[in-house]
Amino acid sequence: MVARARSVSSGVVVIVDPDVVLPPSLTKVLSHVRSLQHRHWLMVATSKTLPGSSLAIDKLHQVRIFFFSMVSFFSDLNLMKVEDYVSKNGRWSECGGVKLWAWNPSQVPLHAGVLPPFRYGAGFYNQWMLNEAIASELRVVIDVSEALGAFQILLSNDTIQAPPSSSWEVDANARLARTYGSYAFKPPHFSNQPVARLFPCGSQLCHQSCDAGGRSQALMTSFRRYVHESESSCGKLSAPQLDCSSSQHQVSGNLSSITSGYSYQLESLLLKVSSPDKVVVLTVVSHSYRDMLMSWVCRLRHLNVTNYLVATIDKEMYQFGILQGLPVFRTESGRSDSKDCTFGSSCFKTVTKSKSRTVLRILELGYSVLFSDVDVYWFSSPIRELMAFGPGVLAAQTDEYNEKEAVNLPRRLNSGFYFAWSDNATIVSFRKIVKHAAKSKLSEQPSFYDVLCGEDGKHRKGNSSCVEPETNLTVEFLDRWRYPNGAYKLIWDSKDVRGTCQRLGCVILHNNWKTGHQQKIERQTRAGLWEYDPETRMCSRAWKNHENSKHLY
Ligand SMILES: *[C@@H]1O[C@H](CO)[C@@H](O)[C@H](O)[C@H]1NC(C)=O
Ligand SMILES: *[C@@H]1O[C@H](CO)[C@@H](O)[C@H](O)[C@H]1NC(C)=O
Ligand SMILES: *[C@@H]1O[C@H](CO)[C@@H](O)[C@H](O)[C@H]1NC(C)=O
Ligand SMILES: *[C@@H]1O[C@H](CO)[C@@H](O)[C@H](O)[C@H]1NC(C)=O
Ligand SMILES: *[C@@H]1O[C@H](CO)[C@@H](O)[C@H](O)[C@H]1NC(C)=O
Ligand SMILES: *[C@@H]1O[C@H](CO)[C@@H](O)[C@H](O)[C@H]1NC(C)=O
Repeated sequence: MVARARSVSSGVVVIVDPDVVLPPSLTKVLSHVRSLQHRHWLMVATSKTLPGSSLAIDKLHQVRIFFFSMVSFFSDLNLMKVEDYVSKNGRWSECGGVKLWAWNPSQVPLHAGVLPPFRYGAGFYNQWMLNEAIASELRVVIDVSEALGAFQILLSNDTIQAPPSSSWEVDANARLARTYGSYAFKPPHFSNQPVARLFPCGSQLCHQSCDAGGRSQALMTSFRRYVHESESSCGKLSAPQLDCSSSQHQVSGNLSSITSGYSYQLESLLLKVSSPDKVVVLTVVSHSYRDMLMSWVCRLRHLNVTNYLVATIDKEMYQFGILQGLPVFRTESGRSDSKDCTFGSSCFKTVTKSKSRTVLRILELGYSVLFSDVDVYWFSSPIRELMAFGPGVLAAQTDEYNEKEAVNLPRRLNSGFYFAWSDNATIVSFRKIVKHAAKSKLSEQPSFYDVLCGEDGKHRKGNSSCVEPETNLTVEFLDRWRYPNGAYKLIWDSKDVRGTCQRLGCVILHNNWKTGHQQKIERQTRAGLWEYDPETRMCSRAWKNHENSKHLY
């Protein structure tokens, strides 16, 4: 969100919590802050909350609707009364932290360093951002809470906007807040860092720079200290005792304890992410391939494919996935180390075998699976096209690269990209594959072929399919020019990989027939088919209307 907002080139950018009612004073406050003529400024505000459920609140609810819809239907309610009501009955919502950010866009960032992938709404990020902004001294930070008078309405049974005090999101945010930014290097020490403050005085707005000395060295330096200081001076910062679960959150946060407590169950993830026709895109990945996974995920996001799941082989990958907010779950054969998981190694074989097992688990739960290795680049979404083969057909990529040879020759089934229906024939066949692979010393790929097409291809039918005799499951090998493997036509060696692929009509392109993930990454980067920036941990892709400069989202 922040990266996206930062790429906007308007005079002022505002990020505001959706729960907050913005009073008309926003324009006045913005003009005032602009008139101060700081070159780079960041304006922050928290809001008041209005508790209870009186008639006045009902009216205020209308006000909320009014502000969101911009329809002036509340003739019986005048704005002055609302402001009065809020200032008399509102309480600062200490737990929520900053509710509104506004700044003048420029090359100067809001804070130094990288904004870690916090989960929105799960606490810590607003305190973190404020502290980093102040500590970096890149922008003049102005607190306009009092001048703005923004508020939130608690409709009868709402609880205070504190994030839930224990969820994996909160724990993950707490950990990110602690391991990134200035906390990671030294105890927070912000003495002598000025924070300016804008507040109403009479009918004017007054402006004051505060020397907020003697601040707490505690981890959770909270925004509340800025709004709770005495009205006229900003010398004394006496933080009141608050029952605020987020600021009391124990950040013991070591990764294992975060991620072990909140592991997702496959069943609940399937309910959340699968498409209405019960299809999921699945990949299985170990930690050494995490950047490739992210590039793959970025590509899927770009294609608006949201029904994907990531099965993780090892603990590190699982933890990384959790912190990135990915829909991850553990494969049943959890391994703890994955240092050297290159093609052909014993780790590689274990990993690939857990792929078919994971697919089988999902099929048995009633969901169809489009399996895709992370080194398969998607030009467009193949889901519809693969579903068109219909139940009883496993559509799979061929590994045959010789154009003169049929695509269904022995051992040419590529088990890194296929669509499997959750039907009896497929499920029974997958049980056989899993059983076959468990006994085999090879990776699971040959088991796919030997089970479905028969050893030496004795169940081949025509030159592009096989029929498994017991279940009648048909394997359709996908067209090579639309679903090319990494060796076909030497596409990866062409000068313009994307253009070549577009001429062929590629739907996907497999980055296989290449050993080593580093080599694969280089190959994809060279071809312009790399979508992830590991430095900022964000997807990288130019936006349509910003082709000139590279933006991240
Ligand atoms: C709100 O809280 C009151 C009292 O605690 C309860 O009686 C009522 O059912 C609650 N309403 C809703 C919508 O949960
Ligand atoms: C992390 O937490 C787990 C479980 O609470 C504990 O067993 C482990 O020793 C902790 N590790 C570190 C490095 O603190
Ligand atoms: C994805 O969705 C966005 C917004 O709905 C749309 O603008 C964009 O064109 C879509 N992209 C693709 C590849 O369908
Ligand atoms: C596959 O069979 C079709 C028709 O039976 C034929 O036209 C085509 O050339 C064959 N392709 C290969 C690669 O053998
Ligand atoms: C699939 O298998 C289940 C249980 O083995 C059986 O009850 C069901 O009738 C089968 N469905 C079809 C379409 O064969
Ligand atoms: C497979 O197809 C054959 C021939 O059409 C049929 O006799 C047999 O019953 C089918 N087997 C299954 C499991 O559907």
